[in-house]
Amino acid sequence: MIKIFITFVTLTTTCSFAPLQLQAQNQSQSPIPSLKETFKNDFLIGTALNTAQIQEKDPAAAQLIPLQFNAATPENIMKAAIIHPGWDHYNFTLADQLVAYGQKNKIKITAHTLIWHSQLPDFVRSIKSPDSLRQFFTNHISTLASRYDGKVFSWDVVNEALEENGSLRKSIFLQLLGEDYIVEAFRLAQKAAPHTELYYNDYNIEQPKKRAGAVEIIKKIKAAGVRIDGVGIQGHWRASHIPLAEIEQSILDFSALGVKVMFTELDLSVLPNPWDRDNADVSATAGNSTGKDPYPNGLPDSVQNVLTKGYEDLFKLFLKHKDKISRITFWGVNDGQSWLNDFPIRGRTNYPTLFDRAYKAKPAFYAVIATKK
Ligand code: XIL
Repeated sequence: MIKIFITFVTLTTTCSFAPLQLQAQNQSQSPIPSLKETFKNDFLIGTALNTAQIQEKDPAAAQLIPLQFNAATPENIMKAAIIHPGWDHYNFTLADQLVAYGQKNKIKITAHTLIWHSQLPDFVRSIKSPDSLRQFFTNHISTLASRYDGKVFSWDVVNEALEENGSLRKSIFLQLLGEDYIVEAFRLAQKAAPHTELYYNDYNIEQPKKRAGAVEIIKKIKAAGVRIDGVGIQGHWRASHIPLAEIEQSILDFSALGVKVMFTELDLSVLPNPWDRDNADVSATAGNSTGKDPYPNGLPDSVQNVLTKGYEDLFKLFLKHKDKISRITFWGVNDGQSWLNDFPIRGRTNYPTLFDRAYKAKPAFYAVIATKK
């Protein structure tokens, strides 16, 4: 009986008079447009990659990623806690695999990130002396930037150095090394990685006060005669509150400084957050999901439409300024991978990307593609 059933399925999937349900399934697997092809004359299209994706453990992702993306950023594996867990101990294996993956698939890698207050190894967190921190700082930047020079396309040299009011974040680097640490990070990176583009990356820097802080950082690096090639606006926004006017002003203000502008971690949350404002501060967690996970079984059409419109508005704006924008990177290939299922509240069901949990293109994907037509 089982044998007969298998034979029936095999026949019906291969012959032309397949049942309707199977035909529909086959149609849904027909090729979809490619983001990287659609925008190939405009900007690079990137994604964050997690370990399973770098190692091609999931066949659906392994197939989709090279068709859709020509840029990628490691979501976690090049952060200090993972790649440099002890004073003289580096774990290069995953980053080397990422470089090979990028070469094989013609994907430009933005290494992320050299100097960031978060995801630091324990030995750095416990440092109290400026000399020790400077030793870590110098070794870390020089070792990684030189090892991957010519192998990665770019580095996020400094990540999230600003407070919301535009002042410098009171990180361990500011407190022990002083405010010149940012220029010094770029100086060390420039020396070690002469063939790699160097960027400053942060969230909410489209907002006026924080943007002014980022402008100051860029000006200061340039005034010191040190190279900075671009600025990354992360782009962790709420689908219902995208600050389009501020984003446009930021594109103009940053590009006027002579640096490339990128949107480096784009995702649009559809879930309520406890602060009622955009916040990508990874330390700002807000407890568990009990009673705060409104769409565990699927997104209502009304919210899906808000997400779709949000992406459409953004890509219209990006295309308007395509001469100033070099890359748009999504923070995750599909909804299931997104960090927003666990941030700022653990264990929720968010829908912030262009592909659903089965890697099927969502209405927002088609709306993005349609902005080119
Ligand atoms: C996030 C990752 O997506 C998570 O997997 C991790 O647990 C925390 O960090 N800004 C950044 C990214 O620059 O590195 C962060 O990535 C999201 C906010």
